[in-house]
Amino acid sequence: MKDGLTNGSAAGAVRPVSVVEAAGVLLRGGVVAFPTETVYGLGAIARDDAAVQRVFAIKGRPPSHPVIVHVADPGALARFAAEVPEAAHRLADRFWPGPLTLVLRRRAGVSALITGGQDTVAVRIPHHPVALSLIETCGEALVGPSANRFGHVSPTTPDHVFQEFGDTVPVVDGGPCQVGIESTIIDLSGPRARLLRPGIIDARAVEEVLGEALAGPAEDAPRVPGSLVAHYAPHTPLCLWAADGLAAEARRRLARGEKVAILATDRVAVPPQCLGYRLPRERDAVARQLYGALRQLDESGCDVILAEAPPGAAEWSGIRDRLRRASARAR
Ligand code: TXA
Ligand code: MG
Repeated sequence: MKDGLTNGSAAGAVRPVSVVEAAGVLLRGGVVAFPTETVYGLGAIARDDAAVQRVFAIKGRPPSHPVIVHVADPGALARFAAEVPEAAHRLADRFWPGPLTLVLRRRAGVSALITGGQDTVAVRIPHHPVALSLIETCGEALVGPSANRFGHVSPTTPDHVFQEFGDTVPVVDGGPCQVGIESTIIDLSGPRARLLRPGIIDARAVEEVLGEALAGPAEDAPRVPGSLVAHYAPHTPLCLWAADGLAAEARRRLARGEKVAILATDRVAVPPQCLGYRLPRERDAVARQLYGALRQLDESGCDVILAEAPPGAAEWSGIRDRLRRASARAR
């Protein structure tokens, strides 16, 4: 079984553009992919409706799905939010720049393209020098949905972006993403703070700063308005198994003639006929490698990916969420 992460094997190669070149493309109304600490984003100038529309078209994303606005300083919040509640200031002070998105009531005039026609807007300051430098060079906020086709696995390297869009989208190379799963989303637009999407910043860390419990949907309910359960999904069906039952399931499937891929820690003894990706046990390392591993196994031509269910502790909720969604298409 193979350790660690290798980049995908898309034909062709990324020809990265510099921050200055990318800013030029954006300011002329174009679209570029840029690195953040979580995943690569598909950037366009947030004020430019035509450019934002291009992002939706490139992703194949339905217009009802709102996008996150990326800014470089907390002062920019006021350009998008009708008001910035005390709780937002506190979370921003503690977690920005970082993998946290705040949903606030939108200011009048913020494009319905960005908000998906809702009366709220999502904003974050990414913790990546290239992202910040790109926003600052443009002097503009950028929309940044993950740089993948709608419903597919988010990209965490420039090669992943290339696998999605080939050379139709210029990419700024910021190396592999250090967090690896998308930001935690907290909705502060209502009377009570709500968790909309778990991430690497877990609900308890947010609750500590807010001094109150987060309202949040049950773990298996959709979290984000317009979100689909089968999201973040590889093309190959993926099934989640507890470590102690996974090898037996693999053997059952092998006996039926299936080609089986396994995504698991060293808690699982992998049958030699299976293609495997060995996950580390440590949470941050799993998050960092998860999407690259899914892409790699997805390309292997296997009939099924059997993935070890992550631990049940709160700090794993972001990873559980992504794997649960990745498994939503499988029978
Ligand atoms: O880490 C991230 O957040 C990455 C990087 C590139 O910043 N971006 C990202 O964007 O994951 P995207 O578009 O793939 O996912 C954004 C999520 C969507 O599920 C969307 O529905 C939700 O944020 N969202 C955006 N605006 C919202 C709003 N006003 N209210 C509720 N949810 C919102
Ligand atoms: Mg996405």
